[in-house]
Amino acid sequence: MKNVFVFEHPLIQHKISLLRDKNTSTKEFRELVSEVSMLMGYEVTRNIPLQEVEIETPVGVARTKVMYGKKLGIVPILRAGLGMVDGMLRLLPMAKVGHIGLYRDPETLQPVEYYCKLPVDAQERDIVVLDPMLATGGSASAAIKFIKEKGVTSIKLMCLIAAKAGIKRINADHPDVEIYCAAVDEELNDHAYIVPGLGDAGDRLFGTK
Ligand code: PRP
Ligand code: URA
Repeated sequence: MKNVFVFEHPLIQHKISLLRDKNTSTKEFRELVSEVSMLMGYEVTRNIPLQEVEIETPVGVARTKVMYGKKLGIVPILRAGLGMVDGMLRLLPMAKVGHIGLYRDPETLQPVEYYCKLPVDAQERDIVVLDPMLATGGSASAAIKFIKEKGVTSIKLMCLIAAKAGIKRINADHPDVEIYCAAVDEELNDHAYIVPGLGDAGDRLFGTK
């Protein structure tokens, strides 16, 4: 496995444990996904370049730093990726938001695209793709392919739980893409759910089951 960064921060790890718990309510689950996304966003943006500027304070002039360089875009994979948007936007209110609609066909387990709308200047942005679950990697790989086809060259993938199989798939299909996650799980079951994972992220976020 290459290009994988697992966030071990205690706050992130604690919240992931709560997310895994089958007794966590829909409301708590949604809040936790948002909180973990914000904490992970803090780490994902660690290498944003800074430039020095002069700022007038009430008592003098400070030489201080502000972010510069490529602008950011976030692209949640519908539906479950939506749960991560709010946390990221709280940190990065200037980020533009694209959407990619994909679902896994329950029979073939292959991703089926039903929607794609990216910021018009997506090619000039650093794009972070959001999806809580990286299972077989089929959905994330297809989403990244669509985004690349629009001319985007800088893409990161941020998920909460990644299965080893999904990481391998992204490594193989998109060796240029870094994967940021909070946990790596060993296995997939016969329905390609991550084990132990946290169940169906979309259903738990939106209370659909
Ligand atoms: C889930 C999840 C990922 C995908 C992961 O979405 O949010 O998008 O499955 O599986 P994969 O790595 O094997 O492709 P799902 O298809 O359940 O759709 P939903 O978000 O609308 O619930
Ligand atoms: N999608 C989910 O929501 N959970 C899994 O474990 C795998 C795919």
